Amino acid sequence: MKKDIDWQNIGFGYIKTDYRFVSNFKDGTWDNGFLTEDDTVTISECAGVLQYAQTCFEGLKAYTTIDNRVVCFRPDLNAARMATSCQRLEMPVFPEKRFVKAVIDTVKANLDYVPPFGSGASLYIRPYMFGSNPVIGVKPAAEYQFRVFTTPVGSYFKNGAKSIVLRVPDFDRAAPLGTGHVKAGLNYAMSLHAIVDAHNQGFNENLYLDPATRTNVEETGGANIIFVTKDNKIVTPKSNSILPSITRKSLLYVAQHYLNLNVEEKVIPYSEIKNFKECALCGTAAVLSPVGKIVNHGDEVIFPDSSDGMGEITQKLFDTLTGIQLGKITSPEGWIQEIS
Ligand SMILES: Cc1ncc(COP(=O)(O)O)c(C=O)c1O
Repeated sequence: MKKDIDWQNIGFGYIKTDYRFVSNFKDGTWDNGFLTEDDTVTISECAGVLQYAQTCFEGLKAYTTIDNRVVCFRPDLNAARMATSCQRLEMPVFPEKRFVKAVIDTVKANLDYVPPFGSGASLYIRPYMFGSNPVIGVKPAAEYQFRVFTTPVGSYFKNGAKSIVLRVPDFDRAAPLGTGHVKAGLNYAMSLHAIVDAHNQGFNENLYLDPATRTNVEETGGANIIFVTKDNKIVTPKSNSILPSITRKSLLYVAQHYLNLNVEEKVIPYSEIKNFKECALCGTAAVLSPVGKIVNHGDEVIFPDSSDGMGEITQKLFDTLTGIQLGKITSPEGWIQEIS
């Protein structure tokens, strides 16, 4: 039976669910793993994750479709991205097929927490891994734990999709040849000061520029960015230091194959963004979130067609991708993973 939760008003906070998946890596191999009701982790005070931040994670959602199936969206791509993160952080890869199975099993064990269709809410899934044995000299841990927990989250747009304002900060989120392209916990620790500072100054998010030259647009602390040209082409930054968003990859496909729009991934100098008519952030949390204005040390760029909610093209992209996710529009092969 579904839990007695006010699905319309749950926001984005941690709500403990019944089961989580745990697997341990020791002596060079992963054990079989298991589901447990224990939501706590006990590790050495000297664990690699606590001393040298050796951890990475993923984020995806399960939700109820229009015909009452519980599904999740492209978990194989999260598995592949986590493998890349692990390789960059000298952590053992959790085999990709087992990753997808662990996600499915964890959601299945918490089905009563999957919000109903139409609520706008979903079950957020957080796979993650960390170095668990004592490490005092700077080196990779020898033992690791892989876990998957779930938590129900509310609709991102409870009060409609309001346009947000970004600012260009005096901080970087990534180094030129660093870890910006993987989902390392350390990237997010690094962004915390910048996000608190942005909020204190009345901005919604930081738009980071490329760390080598600080002239090209990259992404925000938790989402990629897309722009729409006056002739309806989707343009998005090409860079080795941004996280390859699964939502963005899917939106570019949808633009080309469902909406017949041209798309281009290219280096975007900050000086050129004034020519775009729409701007939006993209990621698992909101799918697309309209950007009305970007402020760079007093200089403002306003996007005329997305300054008051989603622009026309952003809205079409949003409707098509969420339509595919919710089973209203036929999905490309392999995008929707059935859970129950
Ligand atoms: C830095 C960053 N960029 C982009 C994204 C969007 O990626 P995805 O669409 O896979 O959620 C996220 C969120 O996962 C992120 O943390």
